[in-house]
Amino acid sequence: MKAATALLALSLAAVASAMASGGGQRDDDERGRAAALDPTYVEECGACHVAYPPELLSRDSWTAVVGQLGRHFGVDASLDTALAAEINAYLQAQAGVYATDDSEGQPLLRITETDWFRHAHRPGEDGLYRGVFDSEAVRSPSNCGACHLGAARGRYGEDEIRIP
Ligand code: HEC
Ligand code: HEC
Repeated sequence: MKAATALLALSLAAVASAMASGGGQRDDDERGRAAALDPTYVEECGACHVAYPPELLSRDSWTAVVGQLGRHFGVDASLDTALAAEINAYLQAQAGVYATDDSEGQPLLRITETDWFRHAHRPGEDGLYRGVFDSEAVRSPSNCGACHLGAARGRYGEDEIRIP
């Protein structure tokens, strides 16, 4: 865990210095082009899966996700109150400014259930084939890093996609 954290910290530092030197390659994509992810967020929310880009869910959705970490998609991801509040403050500040609700107006907990995600990842789009998310190498649409090679660093640009 310590080694993984150190590696992440190193790559975040590399991204930050590339941006500072003006040599940073910004994504042209409409979404997924936020600055380097907050280290505390990456440490606490990037252990079981990549730290998802905060701008891909609304404030209401993040509040719902952080509000039920004890029952988090079948696992217990609970944090102490202060840490949860710190992470939620970061997510609220970086959240998308569009609604990510279901058809009943309830906030979605999953990026992968948003209309945007389904549209951008529909079969036929850039090599995505029917059943790709169930394939052995991908297993779940939530497994962003299976295709987005820079997902752990919050990078989703076209130049860093490889469908396994
Ligand atoms: C103990 C492991 C664990 C930790 C820690 C954890 N998660 Fe998760 N998370 C999961 C699992 C398991 C899923 C479901 C993945 C799947 O369906 O393939 C998930 C899914 C998600 C999803 C939905 C992804 C999608 O499908 O769009 C979000 C959002 C999310 N987590 C946010 C967080 C946040 C925020 C934190 C930190 C506060 C966090 N997670 C920490 C295990 C964890
Ligand atoms: C099976 C491979 C695969 C997985 C898994 C996957 N993606 Fe993608 N993603 C793609 C491909 C291919 C594209 C390019 C689609 C296109 O041409 O717009 C894409 C496009 C994107 C874009 C840019 C869309 C735009 O606005 O043009 C973002 C951001 C993105 N994905 C985020 C995610 C996130 C976040 C996850 C995980 C929750 C994820 N992706 C999971 C393959 C994948």
